[in-house]
Amino acid sequence: METMSPEQFQRVMELIQDVGLVVPAMDAENGRKLFAETGCIVCHSVNGVGGDIGPSLNAADMPSPMNTFEFAARMWRGAAAMTSMQEDLLGGVIDLTGQDLADLIAFAHDIDEQKN
Ligand code: HEC
Repeated sequence: METMSPEQFQRVMELIQDVGLVVPAMDAENGRKLFAETGCIVCHSVNGVGGDIGPSLNAADMPSPMNTFEFAARMWRGAAAMTSMQEDLLGGVIDLTGQDLADLIAFAHDIDEQKN
């Protein structure tokens, strides 16, 4: 991942001052529960456990350092396929809050939590 130049950092700080910034606490343990309960596991595997309809989401394969926006962008890219399949297989599209997404992303990147 690119690191920020001092100018970019300055712009980020100005943006934060202008609009504020909320970074939810990211709870990988709760993310693991959500991964099973919301149904990601029907299509995605973690360490070999889960479906193989979508790509596996092993923490060991995730880019480091974690970029939460990039993960969301990848979900967005897969959204057309994911949502139509969710309609078929789960009877509706999985609804996620920002907190749910934060926890799921934490789980997707947490090698230790994925071992449990
Ligand atoms: C009904 C099946 C299904 C369910 C349920 C599902 N996905 Fe997916 N997902 C897919 C498929 C299929 C793709 C690949 C789409 C494509 O390549 O266009 C995908 C793509 C993704 C990607 C992008 C992967 C990559 O390598 O770029 C992420 C991240 C992802 N899903 C996360 C999730 C999360 C988190 C959940 C649970 C909230 C979830 N998915 C639920 C089928 C599903």
